[in-house]
Amino acid sequence: MSDELEALRVAVTSLQEKFDEKQKSIVLVTTALFWGSGPKYNKTNCGFNLSRGQFNMESFVLARALHVIAVVMWIGGVAFVTTVLIPSIKRIPDKGDRLALFEKLEGKFSFQAKATTLITGASGYYMLHVMDAWSRYQYLEYWWMHLMTLVWTIFTLVLFVLEPLVLHRWFMAEAIKDSDNAFLWLHRMHTVLLSLSIIAIFGAVAGSHGFSF
Ligand code: HEM
Repeated sequence: MSDELEALRVAVTSLQEKFDEKQKSIVLVTTALFWGSGPKYNKTNCGFNLSRGQFNMESFVLARALHVIAVVMWIGGVAFVTTVLIPSIKRIPDKGDRLALFEKLEGKFSFQAKATTLITGASGYYMLHVMDAWSRYQYLEYWWMHLMTLVWTIFTLVLFVLEPLVLHRWFMAEAIKDSDNAFLWLHRMHTVLLSLSIIAIFGAVAGSHGFSF
């Protein structure tokens, strides 16, 4: 009888140990998820820092939506200028009319481009702050983060510094001197910037939804 009891005691102890182990891992996982002993940014958590309990999903989603709307209004406008406006203006025979029309139409887009550049940058950096994902800049696989930032920096420099100080005056003088050449260079520059932007958008959408390059 005592042998049977002993066997029973051993079996119960072993079951208890197994249960304790399982319970321990459940407690650990739950603690990591809800109370935050989880890791900070690393390659597998994609920069989502849940551990400090600071990740505010609602504000992140709103910032992301705002980011995308600003990108659509901004790069969509750049696409229109590059693929429709400049090619049509290049075909106008009167060179004076070309310049006047371009000034009128691009001038209208200038405010939209400036405002959407600011919103894109602010919402982008806000998302990085919320995710605490600054270390993405250290990894080559996040090249689309580098490219988005590069595109944003180029446009910010052009719109807020180079255009008012140098480019506008240079383009006006060049368009009066040699209109064909001025519009050719204008078209080339827009094509380069649009192509970089499209690659950045492709990389950002694919990369932020789990595609690994
Ligand atoms: C300072 C500049 C910028 C910063 C800091 C920034 C930051 C970010 C961040 C943190 C995300 C979310 C990534 C994720 O969820 O894992 C994102 C998404 C995105 N960004 Fe930017 N961005 C910037 C500029 C740009 C520019 C210039 C473009 C367009 C050319 C762009 C297009 C996008 C797109 C399309 C997404 C993906 C949205 C989605 O699919 O949900 N961003 N950006």
